[in-house]
Amino acid sequence: MSDLNVAIVGATGAVGSVLRDVLFERSFPIANLRLMASERSAGMIIGTALGDIEVENLDLADPTGIDIALFSAGGDRSRQHARRFADAGAVVVDNSSAFRMETDVPLVVVGVNDATATEHNGIIANPNCTTMVLMMAAAPLHRAAGLRAMTATSYQSVSGTGNRAISELTQQAQWFSKTPEALFDGTWEEPEVDVYARPIGWNVLPFAGSEVDGGYTDEEMKLRDESCKILDIPSLTVEPTCVRVPVMVGHGVAATMWFERSVSPDEAADLISQAPGVEVWADKVATPLDSAGRDEVLVSRIRETLSEPGGINLWAVGDNLRKGAALNAIQIAELLV
Ligand SMILES: NC(=O)c1ccc[n+]([C@@H]2O[C@H](COP(=O)([O-])OP(=O)(O)OC[C@H]3O[C@@H](n4cnc5c(N)ncnc54)[C@H](OP(=O)(O)O)[C@@H]3O)[C@@H](O)[C@H]2O)c1
Repeated sequence: MSDLNVAIVGATGAVGSVLRDVLFERSFPIANLRLMASERSAGMIIGTALGDIEVENLDLADPTGIDIALFSAGGDRSRQHARRFADAGAVVVDNSSAFRMETDVPLVVVGVNDATATEHNGIIANPNCTTMVLMMAAAPLHRAAGLRAMTATSYQSVSGTGNRAISELTQQAQWFSKTPEALFDGTWEEPEVDVYARPIGWNVLPFAGSEVDGGYTDEEMKLRDESCKILDIPSLTVEPTCVRVPVMVGHGVAATMWFERSVSPDEAADLISQAPGVEVWADKVATPLDSAGRDEVLVSRIRETLSEPGGINLWAVGDNLRKGAALNAIQIAELLV
């Protein structure tokens, strides 16, 4: 296969900047790289291993000649432009939620359901970053014992919301650090909020995403619906709660899983250790800080369920910008190459 013409759409964003790094780290075969973003960034020069590249305005970009387009500019941009790129001959790997649940769009976690990647119509979807982390731990257990039910609570970092949220946490951490005593007696003053409705600095927001039906958030619905699609278990029951925590990078998930047969913690640890892209940390608890900048999803605290023996409780954590987004998107492109 000769080198490919690659475009990153959303190249200036939190995911886009990691896409730029990971493409070169993995020596992806690139003939020409184009970087696209909004009108605001058009004309900006970004240094890459292929030299300086000028950012193009997505609205004006001609997709002719692009082989692989890595979209990471939000659902509205994907809905507006992804089909236009695919019709011009590109395979689009889309990081947004725009197409994930469409029946003719594969939803691929590389290492879990790779074979589905080829069944595309020009667009392949990259799953939600929290779902991705959970699937890396759940899939090896499902393959061996048949997953039937899952309760999952996420601890999602701010980079999962993008660059503005990273700035918001940085600013609020500084704001609250000026008067630490106020955090003890409740006299803290409301900081400026931009991305999140409530302060994220030194706080926890038990509501990640936007409200949809029945008091659930869209993040929670993605965790349920995408898990069913990726594992191909329409009857899987999932009880999701998504929480935003004051962490820069790394989404953690505490999950309880029930199977068609009993699974012991030792068997679970063996199965997960043998799977690609995931590590069991038995002697040291894996935290978001450990996951940041790493390609592997880390799994710790594998325990037998208490209420009814035979199920598994575990903790999984992964870099949401890498395996949760950029790395998996590039791994999908590698499957096609
Ligand atoms: N962050 C994660 O962990 C993560 C994980 C999985 C999936 N995703 C998905 O990836 C996408 C990007 O997320 P992010 O975290 O990288 O967000 P971000 O940091 O806010 O970056 C957004 C990117 O989209 C571009 N963009 C915004 N409006 C645009 C427009 N009208 N036309 C063209 N480009 C536009 C921005 O360009 P400008 O700089 O010019 O504004 C920027 O490059 C989202 O769909 C998100 O759901 C994110």
